[in-house]
Amino acid sequence: MSFAQYMDIALYDESVGFYATVGRAGRRGDFLTSPEVGPLFGALIARRLDEEWLALGSPETFVVVEFGAGPGTLARSIAFATPECGSALRYLMVERSSEQRALHADHLEGWTGDLEAAGVETFVRSVGPGPQFASSPIAPYGFTGVVLANELLDNLAFDIVRHDGAGNFERLDVHHVEDGLEFVVAPTEVSASLAPVLSSAAAGEWIPLQEHAVQWIMEAVDRVERGVVIVIDYGATTPEIAARPEMGWLRTFVGQERGGHPLDAPGACDITTDVAIDQLATACEPSKTTTQREFLQRLGIADLVDEGRRRWTEKASAPDVEALRARSRVGEAEALLESGGLGDFVVLEWTVEMRDEAADRSRNGR
Ligand SMILES: C[S@@+](CC[C@H](N)C(=O)[O-])C[C@H]1O[C@@H](n2cnc3c(N)ncnc32)[C@H](O)[C@@H]1O
Repeated sequence: MSFAQYMDIALYDESVGFYATVGRAGRRGDFLTSPEVGPLFGALIARRLDEEWLALGSPETFVVVEFGAGPGTLARSIAFATPECGSALRYLMVERSSEQRALHADHLEGWTGDLEAAGVETFVRSVGPGPQFASSPIAPYGFTGVVLANELLDNLAFDIVRHDGAGNFERLDVHHVEDGLEFVVAPTEVSASLAPVLSSAAAGEWIPLQEHAVQWIMEAVDRVERGVVIVIDYGATTPEIAARPEMGWLRTFVGQERGGHPLDAPGACDITTDVAIDQLATACEPSKTTTQREFLQRLGIADLVDEGRRRWTEKASAPDVEALRARSRVGEAEALLESGGLGDFVVLEWTVEMRDEAADRSRNGR
């Protein structure tokens, strides 16, 4: 099987897949993501949602579809931040793993259920007091609002390919051998749209071919009638990824530690890659690309940290939970802005104006 097929089973198979069984984000989980650092990240995303809601003319129903919501931590922080768009908010956590969806209801006021397709349609078309939250493995089309994905694309199945400088490609397949699994090199073809991007990497270096992520972007942009798709992840260009020594872009994680070889113990660890932003751009050029540091600074992370410091100072002699939370913003901000860490993540935004049928046709017919 291809590496992408293998990875999809190793991460998502209902009975053995890492995310379907034991794996999750969080301090007590397998890796720390920005929402799991603390509530500050969610407070800033809430500001970005407000900005979008106002830009769209404050629609009475404002849909946010968070893909790969994991245990639902970002939604809880956004709810806690009480955004201005809250009264219009229909926030759907789309999560493939039912184990993780089962965690969404915890400490989330306004959670309405784990929905089937019909329930999702009703949820995103409903009008009335929000915020309302729901979960589903299924995402809707045709809404006004936001698609959000934090550290999803690095987890979508990818292949591993290289080129020889003369237009020929090879990929790593996964074969059964007596004592386990091993990589076998096989000739392969790549799509005309991705071949030039892959060929821009140094010949002979193995690189991730992220067709599922490209497909996901195309669908995400098509889902939104008016609004924005926001993707946050660790990313680089394909040539930069190819230059990482010893395929350093292909990583495994378990219990906050780097794991072993991705073919050892399938289902026992996370498998992830740096996201190739130039491959994503073949789906649709992003309207905006920034680092997480720039994105959070623009949204006023410094003000929130100063406010936290002030609140802590006021109550330092007899701190309550709120004062402790305020103080923790300082450390959270350091982690979220860190060079060589979360601060260097890329934030890609695709703004979707009123649907343009001609543009849709040209994108779909590429
Ligand atoms: C690295 S975790 C990120 C969790 C969360 N967004 C965070 O930042 O903490 C990726 C999550 O995406 C989920 N996932 C993977 N593919 C998905 C898909 N196609 N649709 C919805 N969820 C998906 C996985 O089950 C996993 O929970």
